Amino acid sequence: MNQRNNHRLVLFPLPLQGHINPMLQLGQILHARGFSITILHTNFNALDPSSHPHFAFRSIADGLDQSEASLSDIPGIVSLLNARCVGPFEECMREMVSSPGGDAVPIACLISDSLFSFTCGVAERLKVRALMLRTSGATSLYVFTICPVLKEKGYIPIQSSRLQEAVKEFPPLLVGDIPALDSKDPGMIFRLMENMIKAIKNSSGVILNTFEELEHANLALLRDDLSVPVFPIGPFHKCCMTSSSSSLLAEDKSCISWLDEQSPKSVIYVSFGSLAATSEAEILEIALGLAYSEQPFLWVVRPGSVCDPEWLEKSPSRFLEALEGRGKIVKWAPQKEVLAHPAVGAFWTHNGWNSTLESISEGVPMLCMPRFAEQGVNARYVSDVWRVGVHLNGGLERENIDRAIKRLLVEREGEEMREGALALKEKASVCVKQDGSSCQALDALVSHILSFK
Ligand code: UDX
Repeated sequence: MNQRNNHRLVLFPLPLQGHINPMLQLGQILHARGFSITILHTNFNALDPSSHPHFAFRSIADGLDQSEASLSDIPGIVSLLNARCVGPFEECMREMVSSPGGDAVPIACLISDSLFSFTCGVAERLKVRALMLRTSGATSLYVFTICPVLKEKGYIPIQSSRLQEAVKEFPPLLVGDIPALDSKDPGMIFRLMENMIKAIKNSSGVILNTFEELEHANLALLRDDLSVPVFPIGPFHKCCMTSSSSSLLAEDKSCISWLDEQSPKSVIYVSFGSLAATSEAEILEIALGLAYSEQPFLWVVRPGSVCDPEWLEKSPSRFLEALEGRGKIVKWAPQKEVLAHPAVGAFWTHNGWNSTLESISEGVPMLCMPRFAEQGVNARYVSDVWRVGVHLNGGLERENIDRAIKRLLVEREGEEMREGALALKEKASVCVKQDGSSCQALDALVSHILSFK
């Protein structure tokens, strides 16, 4: 156990898998630097304290009823949480500040998910310093800061006839990459992001799960724009050696022994994260594309991601039988372990930021299929800037899927990309070593927190 430094950090994750994972990893990193950690969490997607025995946990009532707690409308649920959590959050923080209890360690600061934009105001009222964790990369955060310009230039609202048009002000972005969400109210994503950026600007700094060498130029632009300290200390999961999982679903570990039986770099791993839904027609094309490619595959089909729940109970075994066991389908995988497995040669992903960074960290080239939010920005950088992936050109059709998988895994055309992915993996591993850029940024973050009075 590292020496404790008599400072407590209160961490408040947004209760979605893609936000919980990095926040808990950040908790591990800062715990290893001597801080005591309290995790504040909502009832919705409540966390399991037993998986993290060295953290303290406190839950707050978010006031969501069952009909509201649906993941089909993400901006809706984020807005509701922002509205409903203010009171309970303030009450809980006030209690922790004013009566920390016998031997409790005093609070040094709050670290809030930046999408909880109300937390900065509460912290100010309670005279507690607040840092923000933005769980996506620097580039997409920068794109959100320039959305007013993109609106002024007429790119937003996004028109379906212009999706392939270049955004001249921010190459190599295309109009179709500009963040969007399927929502009853398409403007809501921009209002949420506007509030998020205001909150970051009012905070004592922002922590990012990225590394300097990956997003240097856009980190510089962000620093100029935000005028608060920016700490790129990722990839988080490479900085914290922990076996504890923060998965909300049970991980099916049987896929690891299945991977053990496959040839090196032969498997395409397919997963679209914790939120994206897949229609029946899409599922069919994915299945046929995988079948056409003749490569082994590991495919995550999450309960709730397919409209027909019976599909998951009946169809996978019939499909796999037809392919004579060339693939495996699971409901949830230990993804970081999967991507680090020597049999995995490519990742078909929706380019959620965690998945993108986890793939980069293991040198696995990507087949990009962004679905919503900032995933289009992430995917554009994967294919056109870092050059470690391809888009599914021509759309989600079996022939295109087949071609893209072969290019990524076996054909000479993909060699440059495979080599590029290994080179980027090396950079990701160097930055977290002593004197690496992320390690230095972490030192700076720790000093920054310890300087708070
Ligand atoms: C999203 C995205 O981060 C982001 O685009 C958006 O702003 C909101 O949240 P999500 O779609 O879940 O989250 O994707 P991602 O960021 O990739 O996070 C998924 C996490 O779940 C990853 O850490 C991944 O390792 C994990 N995972 C996924 C598993 O552990 N097992 C699986 O089978 C699939």
